Order: sequence, then structure tokens, then C-alpha cells
Amino acid sequence: MYRTHTCGELSMKNTEQDVVLCGWVQKSRDLGGMTFVDLRDRYGLTQLVFNMDTNIGLCEKARKLGREFVIQVKGKVRERSNKNLKMPTGEIEIDVCELNILNRSEIPPFTIEEDTDGGEELRMKYRYLDLRRNSVKKAIILRHQVAQEVRKYMDSIGFIEVETPVLVNSTPEGARDFVVPSRMQPGTFYALPQSPQTLKQLLMVAGFDKYFQIVKCFRDEDLRADRQPEFSQIDCEMSFVERNDILETFEGLTKCLFKQVRGIEFSEPFIKMPYHEAMEFYGSDKPDLRFGMKFNDLTELVKGHSFAVFDSSEYVCGICAEGCSEYTRKQLDDLTEFVRRPQIGAKGMVYLRYNTDGSLKSSVDKFYTPEELKKWAESANARPGDLILILSGDKKKTLSALSELRLEMGNRLGLRKKDTFVPLWVVDFPLLEWDEEAKRFFAMHHPFTSPNPEDMQLMQTDPGKVRANAYDLVINGVEIGGGSIRIHDAEVQQLMFKVLGFTEEEAVKQFGFLMNAFKFGAPPHGGIAFGFDRLVAMFGGQDSIRDFIAFPKNNSGRDVMLDTPSQISQKQLDELHIKVESKK
Ligand code: AMO
Repeated sequence: MYRTHTCGELSMKNTEQDVVLCGWVQKSRDLGGMTFVDLRDRYGLTQLVFNMDTNIGLCEKARKLGREFVIQVKGKVRERSNKNLKMPTGEIEIDVCELNILNRSEIPPFTIEEDTDGGEELRMKYRYLDLRRNSVKKAIILRHQVAQEVRKYMDSIGFIEVETPVLVNSTPEGARDFVVPSRMQPGTFYALPQSPQTLKQLLMVAGFDKYFQIVKCFRDEDLRADRQPEFSQIDCEMSFVERNDILETFEGLTKCLFKQVRGIEFSEPFIKMPYHEAMEFYGSDKPDLRFGMKFNDLTELVKGHSFAVFDSSEYVCGICAEGCSEYTRKQLDDLTEFVRRPQIGAKGMVYLRYNTDGSLKSSVDKFYTPEELKKWAESANARPGDLILILSGDKKKTLSALSELRLEMGNRLGLRKKDTFVPLWVVDFPLLEWDEEAKRFFAMHHPFTSPNPEDMQLMQTDPGKVRANAYDLVINGVEIGGGSIRIHDAEVQQLMFKVLGFTEEEAVKQFGFLMNAFKFGAPPHGGIAFGFDRLVAMFGGQDSIRDFIAFPKNNSGRDVMLDTPSQISQKQLDELHIKVESKK
């Protein structure tokens, strides 16, 4: 037996026991006649002691141990004279009588401790070493725990996990596909699934009325902190359900996960907020409701006072930052610079201070009387001591820029607390989105999303106004999941394809298999997919999903450890009948 115990489990109740431990040398210290080594494994750290007085040879061997050597030690558990109560094993140490070096290690390229000196690129290149660090290891273990809880809960309510293929055709999520060339049918390609959307619908036709799967999805899109080219979903589908059945079921899952993983209980039902309300009051379809700072439309109030910027704006809107009336010139300039960043896109920012003495001061004083400014403040529900920040311009862009400013103010004021969670359902999304360039509608979710039954007649007359029977689960400003009730009626599906500008032929070519299946008794159905990586990162209190994935890609979609993507041999290219042209 290599070991009798792990490095995380020994305590005072084991004193005087003979034990065998294995692990990695985290660090060693020589203090006079003693050498101390911290031994690490997955479970924790244990202090080893080598005593010069009792065994010179052994102690000298210990002094030669380098960082990350893999060793086995035999010894007795002793009470420590200098206890470290911050460590679970901090009351004991091992008085070592035998040391076996199982493997040596080169000097690691960065320190493998909670705070490392290794930069991101280096850590990713040696990810297997990075994964030895406690914080990263904990993130991966958290992921495992969440997955187990998901499976337990889903099984308990009658869902079955079904695997679906990875070599498929294009799926309808609308990002670019990753494709895989076929050797057996030269010139043809598989696409990796952006999600198992169509397959789970086929499982409903097959009669598996409650399906789920923790599944890899692949999307070739621009990457961000919460986006990876391959990521995992908790993908789910149910038959014989309406929207509220789905929301209730998955609110149940979410609440159970919060309770099991974070010990947080939500007694109230999650808020349901229509999409238009989320946009109007928070400028985002994924509002962070940990704090207020709702938008106040000032368009009507500010127009007609010879201030050309506002007069020429489609939309003028403000947020009220409580207690910020004393912001300095520098702080205001900083915020103006922030909204002017190209990715935010505002041209400038107007402020209105509501001073604690009741007076008002704004950057556009010369166009407005104090009474008029007072009306702005009232409209924004401001009180003395508050600061109103105002953006203007095209409505869509202004909503989006103000949403970023709101989040920035939330950060600056410490209102986005890591341990507070406010989940909500955003419902009633528009079914379609008009693309000005392509001059056609696109499905906002995907083409199998059912229109809201109340808006059915608008499909023919005013498709842009049709609401979808779709929903997103949003927590703390992050889209954690999304789904919809699907179209199961062939006529409605055809109408949808028509509105999307698909010819009959195109629809059959891309989704004929699904339309065919629907001819054989498709039950009413709907579903949802949670972004599993995002969910785990949220439980772990981080914005970036990367640390919660064992081997993630960087922002250019590269795995620097595997050095991939990479070129393949000419022989492989020839077999696939692929010719690579040099980049023009
Ligand atoms: P959707 O495209 O909204 O829906 O995806 C569902 C959830 O997956 C997560 N997600 C991602 N996470 C990390 N990296 C990415 N690149 C990425 N893209 C999406 C998000 C998102 O809410 N088939 C439908 C679901 C359905 O209708 O049932 C779908 O895939 O958290």
C-alpha cells in the first residue's frame, strides 16, 4: 500500500499512530537540527519533521528534496509544539523515519501556492502544475460537486440523461460552426453541435418526455471572460408542458443547487421580468438586480431648451447614483472617459449634482433653470446628496451605454456584492430581430421557438412585434440559461421559416429531418439549457469561467499547453482531399 492516509486528514486523534503518506514537496525549511517539509496532495498539506539528532542520514536526504518532488514517507503522528490552527492538519506533524523519493521534479516554472508568481500564459502552458494550486483545484472540485448535484436532482424528478452525437450537422444557434472533414465521404463535413437542440427535440418525438444531459457544445465566436469555444450545458427538454411548467421545474433545480452548493435558500419565487421592461429600466436583457439605479427617461423633460445635443437626440436617459453628489471633477472626467470608450460608444455624459443643501449644479446649467433641473431630479427620484448621470443619442445605443455605466457605478459603489445572488427570469423576448444589413428577420433564439400564442395573428401582419415563448435565467447580470417552448405544429413551423426568409428547399435541406419527424406525432414540448461553466463560476464567485474548466482555451481560442490548433500532415490533408492555400 503506497499510503495509509491522505495529507488532509490527520489530526490530534491520530497522535502516536504509524502512518504512510505520499505527495508532492510544497516547500522545505531547515531550522538548526530540524528540517520541515510541507507535503501536499489533493486533500491538503501535512508537515513532516526530520530530526538531525535522531537520524542524520535521513535528515540529509530530506535537505536535498526539491520543490514538487514526489515522495513517500513513513512516520509517527505527533502533537505539534507550534500549532497552526488555520490549517486543518495544523495541530500535528509527522516524525519521519523513512523517506522514499518516488520521482524527482525539475524546478517548476512558477510557485505552486495560493498566490503564484506565474502569469496567465505561463500557467496555461503548464496547466497541470497550475491545477496543483489550491484555488484552481478547488474550482475543479466545485465543478464536480455541482455536476453531481445536478444529476441527483434531475434523476429525482424523473429526468433521464441521454448522450447525443458530437459529429452532426449545423445546429440552429446562429454562431459559426466548427467543422470536421469526412475522410470516407471526401468533400463533406460534419459540424460540431452548438447545442443538442434538434436532437433533444427528436428525443421528445421519441417519447422520452424528460431528458437532460451535461454536454459539450462548440461555437466559433469571439471569446470573452464568460465565453469559451467549447463549453458545457446542462441541456434539458420536457414534453407536455407549458412555459410555467418549465420555469417551475428549473427554478426548482436552481434553488436546490444554491442550497446544496452554497447553503443559500430562496423562499420567494424568482422575479419574472418582461424583456421590454429589462431593456427600458436596465438597458440590458440580463439586468444585475443586486442594486437599483433604474433608468429614468428624461427625453420629454430636456428637449426644447436650445441644448443642441439633447434636442437632436432620440433618447435622453439618466441614472441616479445615491450619495455621490460630492464626486470630484476628476471622478466625473473618469466616468466621461469610461462612457466614451469605443466599446461603450457614448459621445459624452451630462451630470446633475443634487447637493446636500438642496441646490442643483449641472454641466448644462446655462440651458436650464434651477426649477427645470429640479424636475429632472424629481423624475429620477433623486434626493439631496445624489448625483444624476445622463446619456443621450440613438435609443438603442444609449440604453446599452447607460447599462454599462450603471454596472460601472455598481462596481465603484461596491453594490455588486459577490455573496449576494438575485436570480430572475427574463420573459417575453421578441421572436425576431430585424437585420438592417441583410434586410431580413433573424430568430432571436432559434427558428424552433414558438411565438407567444396571444401574438399568433401578428406573424402574418407585423412579425417584428411578435413575442416569443422564450425565457432566460439571469443571475447577477449573467445569462445563466435560456430556452423556449418549441413549435410542434408543421404549419406554424413553415410560417416561421417563411418569415425568416427560408425557401421551402432551404428549410428542408437544413432541418428536413426534424420537419419529417414532426409528421409522426410530435408532442408539445419545450426546454432550457444552462451554461454549466457560468453556473459553476457564479457559485465560485468569479466572472471568468476559465478557472472552472480543467484545460481551457485562451482568448484566441488556443490551448497553449497542447499547442493547438495546429497544422496537420500532408498525408492527413491528402486523405481528406483538402488543399490548404497560403493566407493571402
Ligand atoms: P443558448 O444559446 O442561449 O441556448 O445557450 C444556453 C446557455 O449556454 C451558455 N453559453 C455559453 N457558455 C460559455 N461559452 C459560450 N460560448 C456560451 N454560449 C452560450 C449561456 C447560455 O444561456 N439550445 C438552446 C437552449 C434551448 O433552447 O433549450 C441554447 O443553446 O449560459
